[in-house]
Amino acid sequence: RLDILDLLLDVDSTNTYLFKRAGDHMGKRYAVLAEKQVAGRGRRGRQWVSPFGKNIYLSLLASFSGGISSLEGLSLMTAIAVERALVRLGIEGAGLKWPNDVYAGGKKLAGILLEVTGEYSSHCQVVIGIGLNLSLSEEDARDIEQPWAELRSLKPDLSRNEVAGILLDELLQAVDSFQKEGFAPWQQYWSERDIFHHKEVRIIGGHHERLGVVKGVNRKGELLLQTERGMETINAGEISVRPA
Ligand code: BTN
Repeated sequence: RLDILDLLLDVDSTNTYLFKRAGDHMGKRYAVLAEKQVAGRGRRGRQWVSPFGKNIYLSLLASFSGGISSLEGLSLMTAIAVERALVRLGIEGAGLKWPNDVYAGGKKLAGILLEVTGEYSSHCQVVIGIGLNLSLSEEDARDIEQPWAELRSLKPDLSRNEVAGILLDELLQAVDSFQKEGFAPWQQYWSERDIFHHKEVRIIGGHHERLGVVKGVNRKGELLLQTERGMETINAGEISVRPA
């Protein structure tokens, strides 16, 4: 179910757009797609490069019963929605990188930014933002600080409208599933597609750096890391995972 869909030529950020409208659309599912963002935002205050007419910039406003803790795993669920959309489009070889990136060939294809717009007694309201690279010129990509991938080089004959439609459909299904059962049923699905599953990684940020082997995720979507001190649980926070 979707209540409202706005299609915009340009916008500061699709997440900001819904953030401003959140109070007037309590309990509704409100999606927005833009051709261009002039102030696209990434995690950790980074910018998200958002040139006109090429990629997908999608945000969805949705409500979830329970407090903020009931949102645990939603960012992983969103990455799963992107991965499922790619499979439906016939694109092989995309993988998930904890906590919420989609990778292809070791490079980032899509990023997700979740922002809580309000916490109320019985529910909370969230903006789920997805940026999916379809095609980026060298010039567009100049400002991207990490290795990036684009869908067109994985499958040249894609229709952007079809990609957008399928992505929105998978996102709505993921939200339905998460509202009913949370992240728990998806733990194994995640691990099977995690690019670092059973691999040694370095955790950067948080209180201290850690080395360990990825052993899956728990029902809250936290990363399980086998370290020399035993099994540790890592929350998303301001942390990033790199190959060891
Ligand atoms: C990341 O840093 O990996 C998250 C990137 C999220 C980008 C998307 S594009 C649509 C939505 N609007 C924004 O300003 N950001 C998200």
